[in-house]
Amino acid sequence: MSAATPVAAQASAYAHETVLLEETVAALAPRSGGLYVDATVGGGGHIERLLALSAPLGRVVGLDRDERALAATRARLSPFGDRVELVHARFGELRAVLEERGVTRVDGVIADLGVSSPQLDDATRGFSFTRGGPLDMRMDGSSGETAAELVARLDENELADVLFKYGEERRSRPIARSIKRAEAEGQLATTDDLRRAVVRVLGPRKQGASDPATRTFQALRIAVNDELGELEALLAALPLVLADGGVASLISFHSLEDRLIKHTFRGDARFEPLTKRPVVAGDAESARNPRARSAKLRAARRVSRAEERELGGGVVRTASNGVAQTPNVRRSATPTEPVRTAATGVRRAAKALAAVRAQAAAPVGPRSSPIAAWLARRFLALWALAVLATAAAFVAHLALRFETVRLGYDVGAARRAQNSLVEQRRLLSLEAATLGQADRVEAVARGSLGMDVPEPSRVVPMGAHASRRAAGSVR
Ligand SMILES: C[S@@+](CC[C@H](N)C(=O)[O-])C[C@H]1O[C@@H](n2cnc3c(N)ncnc32)[C@H](O)[C@@H]1O
Repeated sequence: MSAATPVAAQASAYAHETVLLEETVAALAPRSGGLYVDATVGGGGHIERLLALSAPLGRVVGLDRDERALAATRARLSPFGDRVELVHARFGELRAVLEERGVTRVDGVIADLGVSSPQLDDATRGFSFTRGGPLDMRMDGSSGETAAELVARLDENELADVLFKYGEERRSRPIARSIKRAEAEGQLATTDDLRRAVVRVLGPRKQGASDPATRTFQALRIAVNDELGELEALLAALPLVLADGGVASLISFHSLEDRLIKHTFRGDARFEPLTKRPVVAGDAESARNPRARSAKLRAARRVSRAEERELGGGVVRTASNGVAQTPNVRRSATPTEPVRTAATGVRRAAKALAAVRAQAAAPVGPRSSPIAAWLARRFLALWALAVLATAAAFVAHLALRFETVRLGYDVGAARRAQNSLVEQRRLLSLEAATLGQADRVEAVARGSLGMDVPEPSRVVPMGAHASRRAAGSVR
């Protein structure tokens, strides 16, 4: 952190269209004589409005980690004289910045997270995949690790974790491999090189879709600037620096940030949320400024400390990880309510924060379980595999059923054929039995020779018949 020093930069080139301007500032209900903080000065849109609405005596301390932004905006704010002080610092250091100035409480804090348009548009900052520039991505160009240095430090698995967690990039592993390959070949010095390494895996941009490198660039930018760590530190400082009834009004641009803010405002008993759902830009603003489409504003009021004391709470504990734990009250509680309510609030808040930290801001790399990370990355593939396997099992089951039914029919037909053969055999046996009788033999023989069957009285033995024929007594 350092007090801002005049930098010979021109304000003219710093054009950033402020999002949710009125909504963000109005949440603080600025008044003359109030003391406020704009934690992300940028192009100066919000802070200028805050100064105007708190005239004539309201004062604002403005922070930005980007000295170029402060230099450019200083001229814009010069009409407000000493009512405004601009400080080159990270908002994660807010408490120390205020203490250095002898300030213990402020009446409101606004923060408009992320990067500004001038930062994105300046190719030399290395934020943009549409403008070739050095692979830098630092908001504070004067210190810290560049994106190229970060990629060089991380191994392939750690890089894949960063792309997955901060960019929600499903193909994080092959992209990380491709980026590390480019780096090993000395082909990773510029934003164009980085984009090429991503396109090698995801293919070129499809019509109507966002650029394939969007998620990779977002992930690296968040990691380079430790954006979630900064937000956590700001959220931890807010209940300490806000005066009773003071308001925090925060704009976020991606789900990880919004979730962190939402859970803190809901779960920390020192906050009373003022926005049940996030405030978003209307159609006109979204049409005018595409960046506003993903903006979400949430505001919360600092619960009065007297109320905390009445309930026997008010002790602010700081966990080993630097995140403040909640005191034991909610604003809605009355002094007669049992302290149990307060204790439940503490537990709920701690649980919510722990969940968000674990999910969104957990450190990447070696401390995350490789199996869990592998499972998380492969979740969709595993899910698709399970669906395919179930479908295949179902089809096989149907085929087997069909075969069983067909075999059942064959067995029935074979049984019927067997029965018919048994019947024929029975008839033949009968026939064979009757063939043993002489008159039956004669009848069969006569039948086959076409002769009449004799009447029983005319039947003569065969020998007698021949001698009668010789004597002419028979024809
Ligand atoms: C979206 S711009 C703010 C625009 C501003 N509200 C306006 O109306 O012009 C975000 C600014 O926050 C700054 N910033 C981001 N993270 C920061 C941090 N941790 N500490 C201080 N400034 C930060 C960026 O450098 C950038 O200038």
